[in-house]
Amino acid sequence: MKPERLLPLILVIVGAAVFYFGYQKKTAPVTLPEEFAGNEAVGLFYQHQCVTCHWVSSLPDARGKLGPGLDNVGIRAKEYDPEHNGEEYLRESILNPSKVVREGFINAMPSFQGKLNEEELEKLVSWLTTLRKESESEKDKTTDQ
Ligand code: HEC
Repeated sequence: MKPERLLPLILVIVGAAVFYFGYQKKTAPVTLPEEFAGNEAVGLFYQHQCVTCHWVSSLPDARGKLGPGLDNVGIRAKEYDPEHNGEEYLRESILNPSKVVREGFINAMPSFQGKLNEEELEKLVSWLTTLRKESESEKDKTTDQ
């Protein structure tokens, strides 16, 4: 066979491989990166797939855009709920997400009532209060403030 005849075949094979591996990457469940092993709050954030809907720049894979970016959620939560350092607001956002739906977003977050025990909820909430960085998410930049 002439080499130029092989070209379409090669393109098909390469195309199929790119599609296959790209598809696998998108559908693979996100797992906790090794550098965060032992960080229980981040562990819960991965385990409950919060990462699929929320953007947190410091966490690989946390690039979800359905929900608000959480890079600076600690600052926002404190503004909404200064009395409790934002903790009550965050707790409600996780247990009763449809009670207060953030402007610019849809009511798409499932309630985690009964899925997290009290200790887990506290860990998650207190970690969220520490997120106080300038957001790197484009979407968050445009919808914030
Ligand atoms: C299916 C997608 C989805 C999943 C999974 C999800 N969220 Fe959300 N989340 C949203 C959406 C959409 C909103 C905005 C609407 C609202 O306020 O309820 C939101 C809002 C929030 C807010 C309020 C943010 C703000 O800026 O006011 C917090 C905090 C939050 N989510 C934390 C979490 C945590 C923690 C988890 C995992 C235990 C999680 N989310 C899982 C979609 C999701």
